[in-house]
Amino acid sequence: MLRRPRRNRRTAAQRAMIRETHLTTDHLIYPLFIVDGTNIKDEITSLPGNFRFSLDKLLLEIEDCISLGLTNFILFPAVEEQLKDKTATYSYDPGNFYLKAASEIKARFPDCCLISDVAMDPYSSDGHDGLVENGKILNDPTLPILGKMAVAQAQAGFDILGPSDMMDGRVGYIREALDLAGFTDTGIMSYTAKYASAFYGPFRDALGSAPKSGDKKTYQMDPANKREALIEAELDTSEGADFLMVKPALNYLDVIHLLKENFELPIAAYHVSGECAMLIAAAQNGWLDYNQAMPETLMSIHRAGADVILTYFAKDFAKLKDGE
Ligand code: PBG
Repeated sequence: MLRRPRRNRRTAAQRAMIRETHLTTDHLIYPLFIVDGTNIKDEITSLPGNFRFSLDKLLLEIEDCISLGLTNFILFPAVEEQLKDKTATYSYDPGNFYLKAASEIKARFPDCCLISDVAMDPYSSDGHDGLVENGKILNDPTLPILGKMAVAQAQAGFDILGPSDMMDGRVGYIREALDLAGFTDTGIMSYTAKYASAFYGPFRDALGSAPKSGDKKTYQMDPANKREALIEAELDTSEGADFLMVKPALNYLDVIHLLKENFELPIAAYHVSGECAMLIAAAQNGWLDYNQAMPETLMSIHRAGADVILTYFAKDFAKLKDGE
């Protein structure tokens, strides 16, 4: 036998020498949930190991992550129901606890990269990402709301904004609003190919942000489509996005690969709550070894073409690497 691929797998040193993909904490973004108040660390039932933190506890958590080498965070607010309305006004209210928290986090940890979602759903009494009228999700009237939210978030100190609502034209609208307000350096990580997926369940539990009626299929993409992702990527690129994101990740590795092959911008993948919850549940049942299945999962997303991965496993991955 002339060709024996196993020769290169003989020892750990040889396997390391020919390893094609390397994943480090540099590539990871850790999603964190914040709630108003003090001394709160409330576990999310459907996403064990993840919490809604009040700012005091969140600062300790971020400090802990930074000591493990994890520097990138995306923050989500759990907003009280009575602060929600049809037009998501609380999202740009100067008294908004989330915006104030961001300023404090950036003051305490200026070197971390702090990212924010831009979408109405955590602040909307309808639980949708756009303005709802007679059961319809309106596109163009949603854009000025997103513009105001984006400027307020840039003002609060977020480094990168992630429009996650899938309204048409929002990247261009937000880019222009940011530039006009002087925030030319605030980046945009666009949720480019975001699918109408069943895997966002635990996230919506965490924020109480599930739609009050209907679903998100008129704005988020059909899971059956791949070529349509190219249209979205083309538009986001031309509108000024700095990153293109695919979401979810695991069931959409082909889409990640497609965008990586066709676009020069960095590709991000959101390894969403439901995808992480499945693995956690299997591990809790003793059906899978978490410390082996978790890094293998993240590596598969990176290998498919994601430069950056948003994952609830970021801290556990950092701990694993720290222990090596
Ligand atoms: C808000 C938003 C969602 C997620 C990220 N931003 C939920 C949704 O679109 O319904 C989901 C993330 C996850 O499940 O981990 N638009």
